[in-house]
Amino acid sequence: MRPLIVIGNWKMNGSLANNEDWIKVVCKGMEQGMPAGRKFAVCAPAPYLAQCNALIQKCSLAFMSLGAQDVSAHASGAFTGEASASMLRELGCNYVIVGHSERRHMHHETDGLIAEKALQVLDQGMTPVICIGESADERNSGRAVEVVRGQIAKQVAVLQDRLADCLIAYEPVWAIGTGKVASAQLAQDMHRAIRLQLAEFDEDVASHVGILYGGSVKPDNAVELFAMPDIDGGLIGGASLNPQDFLAICQS
Ligand code: PGA
Repeated sequence: MRPLIVIGNWKMNGSLANNEDWIKVVCKGMEQGMPAGRKFAVCAPAPYLAQCNALIQKCSLAFMSLGAQDVSAHASGAFTGEASASMLRELGCNYVIVGHSERRHMHHETDGLIAEKALQVLDQGMTPVICIGESADERNSGRAVEVVRGQIAKQVAVLQDRLADCLIAYEPVWAIGTGKVASAQLAQDMHRAIRLQLAEFDEDVASHVGILYGGSVKPDNAVELFAMPDIDGGLIGGASLNPQDFLAICQS
């Protein structure tokens, strides 16, 4: 049985004061009771990871942890501005988002680079959250499944059965930050297609890997999405900035 996992992605938002308030509110809400067997994390901007780690440690909830939004594809060296997976591990991260569509589009990240990043994360004992998804043009021209299959194929080629220790986040680009959420059925169909493709490689990997949905998830659509058999949770952008909304989604 795969656990339901909800991960917040603050993107480039936050401040020392806001982060502290957010974590206090969320921890307090979670202490009052969360559905059993679920896992939660928040991916903070890199400069705030140490602060958020200290705050999350203080509330000592086994099911709440910290994540980062990106990582270097290299272990160490002359890579100005980058942070390695071992650094993120030292700062208390359990999850690292790789290949978010904003990084694919604004920083020209390729599937190959994303797989290298995922390997760095795995080598440090953390869980990569590998983002995939088609653009509006790709969907409108009937190529959504083909595009997603191509992205998955690249990860399978590099990561092989280590994919069982990864999370995949299906995030259709047209749904990210737009308020245009994919219908629960559309998302389920793509998640199913991803799982069937993984099963072509290895049935065990396919049944173990958690596939999260991301793209305009809100408290009022999370219940329907999370009820789908192949949707194992969510990667939440905008709605994760409001601690009450994040809590409501975690409870969905
Ligand atoms: P959104 O972002 O929830 O604001 O659409 C999701 C994401 O980018 O991970």
